[in-house]
Amino acid sequence: MRILHVVGARPNFMKVAPVHRALGQHPGVQQTVVHTGQHYDFNMSDVFFQQLGLPAPDFNLQVGSGSHARQTAEIMTRFEPLLLELSPDLVLVYGDVNSTVAAALVCSKLHIRVGHVEAGLRSFDRSMPEEINRMLTDQLADLLFTPSEDGNLNLAREGVSTEQVHLVGNVMIDTLIRMLPAAERQPVPDVPERFALVTLHRPANVDDPAWLQEMLESLKTLAEDLAVIFPVHPRTRDQIAKLGQNGCGACGLTLLDPLPYLTFLALQRKATVVITDSGGIQEETTFLGIPCLTVRENTERPITLETGTNTLVGRDTRRLLAETEAILNGRPRTGRIPPLWDGHAAERIVHVILNLHGDVPEDEWRGEKGKVFPCVSKTVS
Ligand code: UD1
Repeated sequence: MRILHVVGARPNFMKVAPVHRALGQHPGVQQTVVHTGQHYDFNMSDVFFQQLGLPAPDFNLQVGSGSHARQTAEIMTRFEPLLLELSPDLVLVYGDVNSTVAAALVCSKLHIRVGHVEAGLRSFDRSMPEEINRMLTDQLADLLFTPSEDGNLNLAREGVSTEQVHLVGNVMIDTLIRMLPAAERQPVPDVPERFALVTLHRPANVDDPAWLQEMLESLKTLAEDLAVIFPVHPRTRDQIAKLGQNGCGACGLTLLDPLPYLTFLALQRKATVVITDSGGIQEETTFLGIPCLTVRENTERPITLETGTNTLVGRDTRRLLAETEAILNGRPRTGRIPPLWDGHAAERIVHVILNLHGDVPEDEWRGEKGKVFPCVSKTVS
């Protein structure tokens, strides 16, 4: 069986790693990794391959940056001939980035089966490019692997057949669990006992200069009470630079380059509070039990609000300051780890894929330690 993985942007790499590893246990499976080149800086891409133990991509489409249309079209144009040449049995796409939807669209036109890992998540906010990518990818995919039950409900509402949908758990948490011991040994930048860890990169937060300025001012207010450590995404770095003097990046904030996975994880588990607009970090903080304040009006990961440690503060800096103060005063939200976020999601995915393929003997699709991790089949009414 030939399986082709398509990845392109930073959050994809943590998701492909456990699936690649689990499929690697099966000699009958031949794997190819295609990197679209959507993210290309060493510290946005290569360092993740190194730390996560992923082999270098077999192909890099080197599409680089561009408008959404240009980037998506470029991926499609460069991916199509490769797909025709390789003719895999299944293509796996991950998450909600432009590379995800571009690859899924090419596959569906060529009648090549697509599996979407992290299917079904919805923010119900169509102004987010990622929401469009999620909805379209799920309509195109043949196999849909959801991280939590809300994903199954969303897909059922959109008319996706329940037979295509498999609740498997969270592959990003698979990676976190595997890498946590290494992160615990990782030397971290010199940080005080209490600190806020900040990441912001969504267009809605960083492309509006007035709002970005207001956010930076609030972070500087926070920095009067606790250290603020802010690894800056390239998009955000460029937008802060455009603010000129008013951006005043140095005023009390510790601005860093984007961090490697292990360093960021080591900081996350020690943080007093995490302030973010990322999707994956809402999940990681929920797993780690670290309070998370999400600077967005909505989230496609409601389970992190319902059972985890996540709070939406919206576009409201007063709320951000008040919630941080509550955490500093010892009133953080406590949470539970959602079902199936147990380090075995990738094995469940492999179980589904190999079972569907049908010609692999049972002992071939058993998990690493000889255990079977069947996915939970849910009938959603
Ligand atoms: C993309 C994803 C987003 C994900 C994020 C994680 C889409 C629509 N968005 O957003 O879902 O949460 O990745 O990082 O796919 N840049 C660099 N170096 C790099 C990569 C990007 O300088 O290695 C610059 C680009 O030139 C561009 C900006 O960062 O100006 C944005 O990159 P882009 O790939 O368009 O999307 P992200 O904002 O990173």
